[in-house]
Amino acid sequence: MSNGNGNRLREGIDWVGYVDWTVRDFHGYDTERGATYNAYLVRDEKTALIDAVKEPYAADLLARVAALTDLAAVDYVVVNHAEPDHAGGLPRVLAALPRAQVVCNAKCREALGEHFDTAGWDFHVVATGDELPLGRRRLRFIDTPMVHWPESMFTYVPEERLLFSMDAFGQHVASTQRYDDELEPGLALAEARTYYANIVLPYGRQVARALAAAAELDIDMIAPSHGVIWRAGVAGILDAYAGWAAHRPRPRVVVAYDTMWDSTGRMARAVTEGAAAGGVVAALHHVRHTSHTRLVTEVMEAAAVAFGSATLNAGMMPQAAAALTYLKGLRPRNKAAFAFGSYGWGKGGPEAVDAVLGEMGWERIREPLRVRYRPGEDDLAECRRAGGELARRALELVAEHAGAGRDD
Ligand code: FEO
Repeated sequence: MSNGNGNRLREGIDWVGYVDWTVRDFHGYDTERGATYNAYLVRDEKTALIDAVKEPYAADLLARVAALTDLAAVDYVVVNHAEPDHAGGLPRVLAALPRAQVVCNAKCREALGEHFDTAGWDFHVVATGDELPLGRRRLRFIDTPMVHWPESMFTYVPEERLLFSMDAFGQHVASTQRYDDELEPGLALAEARTYYANIVLPYGRQVARALAAAAELDIDMIAPSHGVIWRAGVAGILDAYAGWAAHRPRPRVVVAYDTMWDSTGRMARAVTEGAAAGGVVAALHHVRHTSHTRLVTEVMEAAAVAFGSATLNAGMMPQAAAALTYLKGLRPRNKAAFAFGSYGWGKGGPEAVDAVLGEMGWERIREPLRVRYRPGEDDLAECRRAGGELARRALELVAEHAGAGRDD
């Protein structure tokens, strides 16, 4: 198998991963553009494989490695992360690399032992600051706990100003291109935003620590474990991560709802109109027509959210509950919000939504906005007023958090 120059990062450093064109579900994340599981081979006086791939693609990885070097020449397999999308292929990879030591931190060794029979594996355990000389170049290790699992780690090559960043800075996008600037403009950053919102969002504090560690490094290129490699957009992705880690809100309002006979839908449209008239960008999402993946990505950067549900069986509608469960788990912060919805003879929908908004720690700017059966003109005017009030509070939050996560 050839490894064309498109896969070459530096002389002696090559991408040897797998492009998963058809995956559309990554443990609940809708991967509309597919994914890649990136692995890299560093050839020097010693040879190191940086990470592996999902279990079914181990043979593809080995074929790429074999096209570059004798498999018996691989000295190390660095495991930056134990999650199965990367480590799943390790048993088959190690079985084919007779001399390879497994280089990882202590938590990773433990996690690998929970997943696989590691009795025969030759471990070389490292910690933050440790270096592994390869010849002309070294590998330096930096623990980045919870970005994305407790054992996650960066591997840095000082001589090449190259950071192997694991999940951090990744994107789920399948491509024959390997670099951010080879994709259509803005796509890599947009997919990195979706990835952050759906995978990394709960770990802002830990991301901030990882960014502080990265700030100590001279970085020309960031090679994550998913998607394209950052070379033109290194500063841009670092700045974007600083904003996301700080939960920096933008002047946007998201209106999300589920409805039964479109009464809550009418309310939602009026709330959206009111918010837009208040000077923010407002977006409307019916939760049965917008994926959780897209919804949380929009909510992440919005300063405010109005969430509506009709009342069904004295509670909220099931898909509204599913969307809120997904949002709550990812812990978006710094939001103003209110609940709204219609009811008939028994209340419960907007009240149940309001309770979850409170559990998420979002600032509720008003009591739930309720309408019996069908909104009239007065009700819709009240929805527009509430949307305008939400926009006003959104703009205040943007001002309060301006600069959060930036050095300047
Ligand atoms: Fe790509 Fe957390 O694994």
